[in-house]
Amino acid sequence: MNDNSQKAKTVFSGLRPTGPCHLGHLAGALRNWLKLQDKYRCYYCIVTWHGFSSEYMKSVSVRENTFEVAADWLSIGLDPKKCTIFVQSEVKEHAELHLLLSMIIPLPWLQRVPTFKEMQKELPEKDLNTYGFLGYPVLQTADIILYKAEIVPVGEDQAYHLELAREITRRFNRRFGDVFPEPKMLLTEVPKLSGTDGRKMSKSFGNAINLKDSRDVIRQKISTMKTDIRRKRRSDPGEPDDCPVYTLHKAFLSKDKRDELAEGCRKAGIGCLDCKTVVIERIIHILNPFWEKRRVLESNPDLVWETLEEGNKRARKDAQKTMDEVRSALGF
Ligand code: TRP
Ligand code: SF4
Repeated sequence: MNDNSQKAKTVFSGLRPTGPCHLGHLAGALRNWLKLQDKYRCYYCIVTWHGFSSEYMKSVSVRENTFEVAADWLSIGLDPKKCTIFVQSEVKEHAELHLLLSMIIPLPWLQRVPTFKEMQKELPEKDLNTYGFLGYPVLQTADIILYKAEIVPVGEDQAYHLELAREITRRFNRRFGDVFPEPKMLLTEVPKLSGTDGRKMSKSFGNAINLKDSRDVIRQKISTMKTDIRRKRRSDPGEPDDCPVYTLHKAFLSKDKRDELAEGCRKAGIGCLDCKTVVIERIIHILNPFWEKRRVLESNPDLVWETLEEGNKRARKDAQKTMDEVRSALGF
């Protein structure tokens, strides 16, 4: 069974199901989530409705990507015995709380959220000037406080959303009684990983190294990555801090090992291929057990869906309990 109930504090985090997880997710979020599941009562949510808010034109991919993310999470070691892994749109209480919160939030609070304007500029091909997208942070707040989560591990890019979640929580509590703890952001140090083209690793740039990529694909992707342009020849010294590949070293190698390689680079003592090989082999070593588990899940997709449904059930029960309190606080 689940030993969540004995743990002191509650953690909530979510990921939009836009595709399979990549090395950036592993270094930024997942490694941290793995540690947290031992100490805290953790909820890890595949936030399908948040995905839909920006991907509503091609929503057929939601189900497929939900599977990909769930298979990745389970294979990397998130353990349904230790944490609750579930799907947002399977727990309708998220929608109910979102609706109720939307009634008490002044419109300007949402209109000044920087990501609302930024995302529209970044993704001009999508019409994100919608009612639902404006409410993105409201839904995110509902996600968190529905489980009375106190700790929200996220990267710096979510700081504004978290600040707003705290403000909304305070406003609710002030008017309707102390129903929710104020959630705190647990800032996760997210190493800036470069993708295969040297830009930030991201699904939308198509430059990601996915966890489910095969050994050969990983070898091929990293060995063809650009390095510091100073190293035209083997005898030219380079600067690791200007090398996209070295962002992988920083995320996945021990300090001693990567310092040694950095020195080799600066003194032209090693070639780029030698340097890449070390990090390639390290990543393959880390992913070996992951691939083994993922292969099993891929051939038993029902196992993944059943595990999610168990998580959904658990989450529903907790969410219903909170919503009973909320409705009674509001006088319904
Ligand atoms: N907005 C988050 C992101 O894009 C995803 C998210 C949705 C989330 N609900 C959440 C993160 C609740 C933490 C807590 O990364
Ligand atoms: Fe990058 Fe390593 Fe080549 Fe230096 S030696 S440029 S760190 S790949």
